[in-house]
Amino acid sequence: MGGLDLSEIDTGDLVREVQRRLECLSKPEKRLILIGPPGSGKGTQSPMIKNENCLCHLATGDMLRAAVAAKTPLGLEAKKAMEAGALVSDEIVVGLIEDNMKRPECRTGFVLDGFPRTVVQAQKLDEMLQHKGQTIDRVLNFAVRDQLLVDRITGRWVHPASGRSYHEKFAPPKVAGVDDVTGEPLVKRKDDNAETLKSRLSAFHAQTAPVIAYYKEKVVHIKADKAQGEVAGQVRRALA
Ligand code: AP5
Repeated sequence: MGGLDLSEIDTGDLVREVQRRLECLSKPEKRLILIGPPGSGKGTQSPMIKNENCLCHLATGDMLRAAVAAKTPLGLEAKKAMEAGALVSDEIVVGLIEDNMKRPECRTGFVLDGFPRTVVQAQKLDEMLQHKGQTIDRVLNFAVRDQLLVDRITGRWVHPASGRSYHEKFAPPKVAGVDDVTGEPLVKRKDDNAETLKSRLSAFHAQTAPVIAYYKEKVVHIKADKAQGEVAGQVRRALA
């Protein structure tokens, strides 16, 4: 079992995991895309969508940040664009998605967070899925006015290892500056400042908004300017 000693795992945790996996057997396959400007709540809602629908969560931003932190050749290439608030090349992100979709937990579906972000990426994704006889089921468009996003982005704190995000006003951690689950320190993302946000929003409107039209038959519009719980309710209804 790859060195894993099950006797070391708490019985309650083990039973809950087995129950979860049994419940997952009855869930339909789902392939979902989340589109929205920076700070619209894609990363916040993803864990709920993933857990309740038994999907894998593929976030290109998280993958790229991990590559930058590990100083891999891909990370070094992506770093400059990310810090400037521009998009990384289609080739890099399509490769990342193609590799990660092979993970066993993606077999019965996925939630794509931050991908595709250009029409070319959407076309490549369609080609990838067509080869496997699969298709995208639903595209959730997290709509928020630009003005609201400045507060959301400048007040965000993240736990880099898990991708969990907090907000100093809207979703504070139990203890300031510390991740609720691991107790590890929270950090600010380098691109989370008002200046870089302007470039990220320009990239969104110019390059990503056309992806919403590309998927027009599959899009459900989410009013993502509402409180987190209300957004979660809209998402659940959209996926029911
Ligand atoms: P990425 O990491 O994908 O960043 P993003 O799209 O800019 O999105 P964010 O993570 O900023 O926002 P989010 O919608 O997840 O918001 P969150 O839920 O955290 O990409 C980073 C960079 O990587 C890009 O700029 C690009 O360079 C590159 N990249 C990534 N993918 C790429 C691709 N496919 N192609 C090319 N380049 C790519 O919420 C934000 C804050 O608001 C949090 O603090 C949260 O607590 C709070 N909040 C959430 N919901 C609510 C609510 N309803 N009410 C109040 N506060 C809320």
